[in-house]
Amino acid sequence: MDLWSPLSRLFPAVLLTWTLFALCFQLGCSAANTSTPWPLLDNGLQHTVQWDHYSLLINGERLFLFGGEMHPFRLPVPELWEDILQKIEAMGMRMVSIYTHWGFHAPTPDSVDFRTGAHNLTCFLEMARDVGLYVMVRPGPYINGELSAGGMALWSTTGAYGTLRLNGTAYTHSWTPYQDGIARVTRPFQITENGTVIIFQIENEYGNQWRDMNHKIPNWEAISYVEKLEDNARKNGIVVPLTHNAPNQNGRAWSKDYDTVGAGGDVDIYGLDSYPQCWSCVTSECGSQPPFMPEFQGGAMNPWDGPAGGCQERTGVDFVNFYYRDNIAQRVTMLNLHMIYGGTNWGWLAAPFMGTSYDYSAAISEDRSIGDKFYEIKNLGLFTRVADELAFTDWPAFYVIRHVQTASASEEWFAIKVNTSIGEFYVPKISSAAVLSGNEGKILVADFHFGNQTLYYATAEVLTYSIIDGKEILVLWTPSGRSGEFYLNGATTGTVSSGQSVTFVGSDHGVIVANTQRGGLTVLEFDNGVRIILVDRKTAYKVWVPALTKDPGVPVDQTALVVGPYLVCSATLTGTTIRWNGADLPTTKTNRSTLVATIPQPRTILVPKIVDWKSHDSLPERDPSYSDAGPAWVLANDTTSPNPAFNLNTTTKPYLFADQYGFHTGIRLWRAHFSVPADSTSPPTGVCLSIQGGTAHGWSAYLNGVFLGSWLGDANADTSNPTLPFPANSTLLRGGDNVLLVIHDDTGHDQGSAAVAGTAGASSSPHGTIDALRTRYNEGGLTAERLGWHLPNFNPPSSFWESRSAPSEGFPGPGVRFYRGTLPLHIPRGLDVSLAFRFQPPLDPEQNNNLGYGYRVLLFVNGWQYGRYYPSIASEDTFPVPAGVLDYEGQENMVGLAVGVEVVVRYAVESGFDSKGIEGGYLRGGWEEVRREYA
Ligand code: GAL
Repeated sequence: MDLWSPLSRLFPAVLLTWTLFALCFQLGCSAANTSTPWPLLDNGLQHTVQWDHYSLLINGERLFLFGGEMHPFRLPVPELWEDILQKIEAMGMRMVSIYTHWGFHAPTPDSVDFRTGAHNLTCFLEMARDVGLYVMVRPGPYINGELSAGGMALWSTTGAYGTLRLNGTAYTHSWTPYQDGIARVTRPFQITENGTVIIFQIENEYGNQWRDMNHKIPNWEAISYVEKLEDNARKNGIVVPLTHNAPNQNGRAWSKDYDTVGAGGDVDIYGLDSYPQCWSCVTSECGSQPPFMPEFQGGAMNPWDGPAGGCQERTGVDFVNFYYRDNIAQRVTMLNLHMIYGGTNWGWLAAPFMGTSYDYSAAISEDRSIGDKFYEIKNLGLFTRVADELAFTDWPAFYVIRHVQTASASEEWFAIKVNTSIGEFYVPKISSAAVLSGNEGKILVADFHFGNQTLYYATAEVLTYSIIDGKEILVLWTPSGRSGEFYLNGATTGTVSSGQSVTFVGSDHGVIVANTQRGGLTVLEFDNGVRIILVDRKTAYKVWVPALTKDPGVPVDQTALVVGPYLVCSATLTGTTIRWNGADLPTTKTNRSTLVATIPQPRTILVPKIVDWKSHDSLPERDPSYSDAGPAWVLANDTTSPNPAFNLNTTTKPYLFADQYGFHTGIRLWRAHFSVPADSTSPPTGVCLSIQGGTAHGWSAYLNGVFLGSWLGDANADTSNPTLPFPANSTLLRGGDNVLLVIHDDTGHDQGSAAVAGTAGASSSPHGTIDALRTRYNEGGLTAERLGWHLPNFNPPSSFWESRSAPSEGFPGPGVRFYRGTLPLHIPRGLDVSLAFRFQPPLDPEQNNNLGYGYRVLLFVNGWQYGRYYPSIASEDTFPVPAGVLDYEGQENMVGLAVGVEVVVRYAVESGFDSKGIEGGYLRGGWEEVRREYA
């Protein structure tokens, strides 16, 4: 047969070819038997996880490691972790990566918690193992992650522990219990023991190995810090490879290849993070590079003033399609997406510039729903799971085709010369040219082996294949309207058993098949027993390959193929019965030996309503007669400070750095007393405040109960220096005690070295150890929080509540008011439902000023702070709250502090994951008598 020759209209598409050592694959030999100059390495502590120049090998098997990041602490309902893990696995990924959070696990310098609620990482590692995912553990102690102090324990940020992220003794002692704890929890779950952990990361994007990188002059203090962390991991039994994630190639730190002078601290496997659309979505701030990418962009964060919902457009389907294929073109063989599930910055977890959502525009949304981005990643993920040859790159087997410029929107017709075992020739051979449009990337295969079969080439993309009853079933996809072609070895004829017509052309080594994709499913049978299914992109989105094994390697003869549903996470085979979401479905068997079942439309649920509002004033502290003698209050009169961030000589005393008084999160109350002589001829006329509060901070001030002023904040301002005149002479008391009250809404600690910046202001919350489950990140110093009014089992006599009821009525003048309502829920069983709370500003009758936005709201749901609504600063107004925090069969779901809030149903899907079935009672308690002391 004649070879089709290239079109003259070719390109400007760029063709990137790369290679696979096919001989090895054909012989079925292990990579140890390669003829390459690259040695097979391990760290000498174990031989299960090895690596070489090309890829990782697990138990001697080379693999393309595709994974995604989630943070267990950002979804504090352990029962929901499994759902995320199953979704990751359903995408064809083999790994989940986690940060663990020092501040969350170490409430005090001498205690760690790896047990209570979401602290229970044993539960997470068991689930990951049972779902069949490898795990990368990234404990920090610094993790960045858009978190207050980058996840460092807040008590370590006073300055008393010396320079953070260095080798000093106090700082080393501070992180040791946590690093000991996380390593000990991880140890039994390593792949060498009873689990699937394969990688352990040291620190996070910590460069610093060199004082002078060009001359390789070591930075001994930083090296000693990294070595202490490495020694700690090893001492506690971590034997899997240690890795590092460099923020950019220019730092050249911690890689054995860069460290030619034996400086020390080098990890086993060096990795490079890359955010081509920039982590902030501002491309001018970032560059890009290449085979282990511990963090490749999976979306983008949602800062206060960033795009609502993150960076959905620029990191959506096109981005996924183009960039992830491009990474493959650059021979990346270990690719972890940051984030695959973002979750929520509940409470005060976030860094100052971030709001409540950490949706991250990730493939799995904050409310756990999935959509086209998820499906597009799945289209590639399923391919990477069956194309282990991707991990070994010395034979032209894959052709990645893309425009040179990502921004190109033009459509190119192209043919490409492929190198196969039957020679080199241009493809497509019998159909019109292939098409590449816009931001698309394509991976075309040559000599692709599936089971005992070979495709010499395909201009359609391989979605996946499975070996079922000893028979190979291959799925190829093409965008709708496009032609696709493939050459199957060993067959002489084929037939269409259902779907569209295709062209079969017999050839010397098999059959060439061409079609134009018109949508849907076309099933072809070949006389060598092979079945090939052709689908368009949208149909491919709903093709699932559930594993019938827990082995994260997912052998191709241990999978099922399912087409149709929104999501398929797992499958079991029992004769011809399909068990679907807990029920047996009747099936019919087709003449192709497939089973067809019909599933019902999802039930809808009624939107629930919050009822029975009650309220109480929550600012008794403004009243001069209020007593601040109780244990909630600490006398802030230090004249010395360990804080290195301020020039103490020019800062007025006493020092008001809240952290050194033990207050680290949330709204702080500062109460100051001063007297003015009765006969003073020049009494003070106002007060000057100097407030460092994190970007988006805000405050209000009162003198003797009279409102002086407030600031609603600005997404970019982290300080404010107001001068507040006393409104009338009568406000100031002469010859007696004057009480100044400042409520200071502090938005948290900066990341990196600025974590120690400290904030001026005093807080009155208990020292944060009362609520072990929700931790100190959940609450600040408001009366309602100190006394636990936000907790479900706070049950005061009904006389406690004042008459003002629904928050939508608003309240006159400045103040802080706590509202409490109940949300009765009766979610039917068998549905996975996501609910969210949406705020609407109360209507300002005048409609001519901003009064409608002159407030801030904290939302508590069953005790959990699940929303910070700052309408004057951010557009974020809807806060998804997970099942488990909400009781789906509860009369008494408690909603606290709200203005004009309504509940919205984000989605309801019929599911084997039954959100109502969560036994979450233990997540919804927490009020204890001891709270009374913090009035
Ligand atoms: C990386 C960092 C992550 C996260 C990410 C942006 O530099 O390692 O922790 O902050 O940027 O989301």
